[in-house]
Amino acid sequence: MAGKRIEMKTYDIAVIGGDGTGPEVTLEALKVAEAAAKKFGFKLNWHPYDFGGDRYLRTGEVLPDSAVGDLRQYKAIYLGAVGHPQVKPGILEKGILLRLRFELEQYINLRPVRLYRAQDCPLKDKGPEHVDFIVVRENNEGLYAGAGGYLFKGTPHEVAIQESVNTRRGVERCLKYAFELAQRRRNGAPWKGLKPEDTGAGKTAQLTLCGKTNVLTYAFDLWFRAFQELAPAYSTVKTDYAHVDAICMWFVKNPEWFDVIVTDNMFGDIITDLAAMIQGGLGVAAGGNINPDGTSMFEPMGGSAPKYTGLNVINPLAAINAAGMMLDFLGETEAGTAIENASIQIINTKIQSLAAGKMGYSTTQVGDLVAAAL
Ligand code: IPM
Ligand code: MN
Repeated sequence: MAGKRIEMKTYDIAVIGGDGTGPEVTLEALKVAEAAAKKFGFKLNWHPYDFGGDRYLRTGEVLPDSAVGDLRQYKAIYLGAVGHPQVKPGILEKGILLRLRFELEQYINLRPVRLYRAQDCPLKDKGPEHVDFIVVRENNEGLYAGAGGYLFKGTPHEVAIQESVNTRRGVERCLKYAFELAQRRRNGAPWKGLKPEDTGAGKTAQLTLCGKTNVLTYAFDLWFRAFQELAPAYSTVKTDYAHVDAICMWFVKNPEWFDVIVTDNMFGDIITDLAAMIQGGLGVAAGGNINPDGTSMFEPMGGSAPKYTGLNVINPLAAINAAGMMLDFLGETEAGTAIENASIQIINTKIQSLAAGKMGYSTTQVGDLVAAAL
């Protein structure tokens, strides 16, 4: 119709740059996301929030009372990093990161593990074709629930109890998410780790439950039963189980054995740091805290790396990849894929090393390079 303008799709996104190098890598992530928005025809409105260590030291308040309610209005939050050398460990992590994960019911922590270039992998004889899986970490329960307490604190009889909370609802929704992800990964194209008899039986993907059924006989019994009960509804997904200690061994020996892995909060935390190392380090590892029906939060996996603050040497690729995951989550799939492909291209053609200070480029230059490669 003459004179009628087509409304551009617009996304409002909360941004918490946070501590240390968090704000620097966030700038690069937003720069690349902006470039993708321009290219793919949508608009991003950034809404900055100053939560973090500096604000806490200044005001004594970790999160203002209004914060969770405010953030709930967004579909996505972009988070740089939390962790400040002058703040006692735990205050910001629990008060910002974990509080938002819990109160916004971001019950999935999604961590893709993909090696982009063989030389960045510390494993002998492993290349990009061997390291390409995704970890679905439960993000609201387990040992992170904060259940427990002390008895006789400060005495020789002191008892400290930390309990793992596993609810049927919490476990089941996490497993369902993982099954559905396995089903739709690669758009249903078969995973190359399947055996002929699996493909013959109509399988296209594999979901591995990572647990410890031989020792944690309450928690992982619930996980295992729920896993087995759900499996028949996902006929294309081959199910597999491995103990967490064995998973650690196989991440090093045979990472090509994994497609999608689902696990509890604590095991997920631990195995994804190991996984980050085999994909090239914290410089590239990104993650999303997902509430499929609410507010999700995307972050680079590495911490605030305070010693590099302001030096323009930290690797922003993890942060940039987190922005790509965010756009993908918002439905801008093409933009998300373009960001990942641009990162791959820059890693393979420009970046000397993924480590801070050894990239051959500054933080801002890497952001510029990826934005230009879109
Ligand atoms: C992570 C981090 C957090 C966690 C910390 C900072 C609380 O290690 O996102 O993996 O343990 O979940
Ligand atoms: Mn961690």
